[in-house]
Amino acid sequence: VDVAIDAGRLARYDEAASPLDKMLLVGQWLSTDWLGFFAELRAHRPVFTTPMFTFVTRYTDVIEVLAQNEVFAMGYERFEPILGGPHMFTCESAETNWAERGQLRALIPSADVDRVREIAGRCADEALDAAAERGRIDLVGGLFRPVMLRVCAEYFGVPGPDPDRLWRWVRAAVRDLVNYVDDPEIRAAALAAGAELRVYLRGLLEHTGDDVLGRLNTLPAAMGLSAERRTVNAAFLPIGFLESGTASSANLVEQLLLRPSIREAAAAASGSPDFDRYVWEALRFNPFLKVISRVCRNDYRLGGTVIPAGSLVMVSLASAMFDERAVDDPEEFRLDRPAHVRLHFGFGPHQCLGTHPGAAMIAEAVRRLLARPGVRSLPPPEGAFVRQGGFPERFVVGLGR
Ligand code: HEM
Repeated sequence: VDVAIDAGRLARYDEAASPLDKMLLVGQWLSTDWLGFFAELRAHRPVFTTPMFTFVTRYTDVIEVLAQNEVFAMGYERFEPILGGPHMFTCESAETNWAERGQLRALIPSADVDRVREIAGRCADEALDAAAERGRIDLVGGLFRPVMLRVCAEYFGVPGPDPDRLWRWVRAAVRDLVNYVDDPEIRAAALAAGAELRVYLRGLLEHTGDDVLGRLNTLPAAMGLSAERRTVNAAFLPIGFLESGTASSANLVEQLLLRPSIREAAAAASGSPDFDRYVWEALRFNPFLKVISRVCRNDYRLGGTVIPAGSLVMVSLASAMFDERAVDDPEEFRLDRPAHVRLHFGFGPHQCLGTHPGAAMIAEAVRRLLARPGVRSLPPPEGAFVRQGGFPERFVVGLGR
């Protein structure tokens, strides 16, 4: 990719007449031109304060912010009524952030990745076999979403009353995470979905199967969580990955298809352990979670800029992964990057709890796809990647010779 660093976006921003005009420009650049926008910020205003947020864009600044959760705290308290209470993802309370993170980590051991790969791979192959005759597959509704829902059912122990209802609850809840303008319809839908999800989960409190929820329900008394805390944590399991896993997988396949020689090399490597490197490098070129947010609790000097207490801080993982100060030749597709360059699962005390199964299910589903012959883009409109409000809706690709 070739990024225009000095395209004058900041001059246009400074000249915009009102705070609303400024935010509209920022919104437009984030959705259509994020690489160029962040490149310009990294070069000229690495800590960028707008009327709504402060963006942090350089790799070392991103790491500094994410490492300090007491100063830059999770500020998702408005998500608590949806989950039914505080959670490690929403706030810094001692109980949820130390004890519960440890408990949940023990229930999602990295050793489970083989099992997750088996589930994701089996489901992906079923979907690909069913689609083979049609010569095309919708990567969103026909492949990756079913894979994520199957992992949610078989590994996490949360199948939902049916997969479609579970996915609708999660979509409604996740939309409220990015509802910065407080749209009342999105908010109401999220609250209703959260309430229904929790009623459903309370029905699973006695579930004791060999899956994450079963393990959560059968922790020994000394470590056990109350029924209420189990429900809050169980509610976050599907919310934590159904959308991000589906969108990340579809985004990265789009990036591979945009680079035919790399797609071919990835397909040729689909039987090798090196295959995953293609996956994480491709996702760097269009991560689903481009920014994560924090609330700044005390005035804090970052570089030469003071971030005032109370600021909403947008920490750009996507920008950090393209920072030429920390990443060699960031605009090149390279397989030899060290692990610390990849921030897809966050960093620091709030690093994703599902890092291991999340990485396994995404990489395995994409591997099974690319192992098939003739995976290719189709011309629009059929082959257009359709997104709604930033969430993937449809992305049909060709299969077979
Ligand atoms: C496999 C199932 C998954 C589960 C159960 C899960 C769960 C979680 C939880 C509980 C947290 C909060 C951790 C904390 O606050 O200490 C978290 C954070 C995070 N997750 Fe996941 N996650 C999953 C998959 C994914 C996927 C597929 C992605 C994207 C590729 C992802 C990206 C992230 C990121 C970026 C954060 C950091 C958020 C922040 O620091 O603000 N997760 N995840």
